[in-house]
This record gives sequence, structure tokens and C-alpha cells, in this order.
Amino acid sequence: MTDFHTHILPGIDDGSKNVDMSVQMIDLEKEQGVDTIVATPHFNFEHEDLGEFLEKRQKAADALKKALGSKYEIKLLLGAEVAVSPGISTQAGLEKLCIEGTKCILLEMPMNDWTGWVFNEIYAVTARNLTPIMAHVERYYDIAANREKIDTLTDMEVCIQINAASVGRISRRKIINKLLQNNKPVVIGSDTHNLTDRKPNIQRALHKISRKYGQQLTDRLENNARLLLKGNYAF
Ligand SMILES: [Fe+2]
Repeated sequence: MTDFHTHILPGIDDGSKNVDMSVQMIDLEKEQGVDTIVATPHFNFEHEDLGEFLEKRQKAADALKKALGSKYEIKLLLGAEVAVSPGISTQAGLEKLCIEGTKCILLEMPMNDWTGWVFNEIYAVTARNLTPIMAHVERYYDIAANREKIDTLTDMEVCIQINAASVGRISRRKIINKLLQNNKPVVIGSDTHNLTDRKPNIQRALHKISRKYGQQLTDRLENNARLLLKGNYAF
């Protein structure tokens, strides 16, 4: 099983505070049958230097792998959750933020009203031959002004990531239904940040999905994740 969206690397963003916490988060992932974790610390071109971020991310990953030692049976892939900001599509080195070994990049939409520039940037990212995976698309359903624009987003050549915690939430049931039955590739992520209110929670969401939609859909989500990570997904 794959967790496509995590803040599990120690001390790099508002996620795991230290190596100990990261190891415990990984233990929870393993207990739930997760064998592949995509580490996606926040990155924003408007506030950070790419080179410094990449260096910090590597150091955090090295420290974590060292602490895991022989327990390291889990596949940890480096990526980032990149804020969609003006000019992102023309930034040098954007490819370096793709998930290791792929051309997939996890993008986070702004929380405010989406206007033309947001879609233009995403289109230009796809034109750069990268595959955006849009983070927690269902969350934007909470913003009335963006509710109708979700279709515009998912009609683009993008993949959809859903947060595990949203599965089963009444206020998001309608949008989750719609996204899961979209013919675009959908993947699940815990978006885990800690061991308390945002802990790894993939298993519960997948159980709910297979109870409601059948095991076939759960299998398809995992298959989507594998294909994307192998770089074998074609639109
Ligand atoms: Fe996140």
C-alpha cells in the first residue's frame, strides 16, 4: 500500500518534529500495511530557496534512514508539496521537486478564490511534461467560490489526491464520491503531520472505500499509485 502525501520527514516543515516522531509515524504506517511512503514536505517558491530546501530535505531523509537502520523495510520516496504560486511553471529546477524517479509533482492549490492565473500555471506545468498530482482536491469543496471550479481543475491533465481523513466525512461525501468515480487517476494520502490529530490513517479510509465501493476500487487506487511511481501513467 502507498501513502502518497506525508509530512513525515523530521524537522523540515510543520510535520514531524524530530527523528523519533518520524520513526513512530513510520511504525504506524507499517502496522497499516503501508510499504511505500512519499515524503512531501511543503515548499513555496515565493518564500524559500530551492537549493536550500533540497539540501535540508536530504539531510532530514538521511537522519531518518540512519535512525531506522535495519527496520528500514519501507520504501521512502522524496517529493514535495509545492504551493501553486505565480510563475511556478517557469521556475528553474521545478523538476527537482518531482517525486523521486518520476515526473509527477504534488501541487497544492491556493486557499483563496481561484482565478485564471492558477489554471494557466497548472496548464504550463503540464506543458513542461510534468504530471501534476493535485493535493487534497476535496478540501477545496469547502470554499464556495471554488466549488464549481473543481471540475475545471480535474478536467486538466492532472491526477487527483484525496486525504484519507476526508473519506467518510459527511460534509465531503458528495465531492469524494465524484472524485473517486472520476476517470482520472486518483491516489490516497494521509497528509500525516504528527502522532495526534493528524496521524497516519490510510487503512481506515481504504476499509471505508472498499465497504462502500468494493475492493475493486481500492485495488485501482493502489494500482494508480504504482503506475504513477513507475512513471508509467499515460493520459
Ligand atoms: Fe500536506
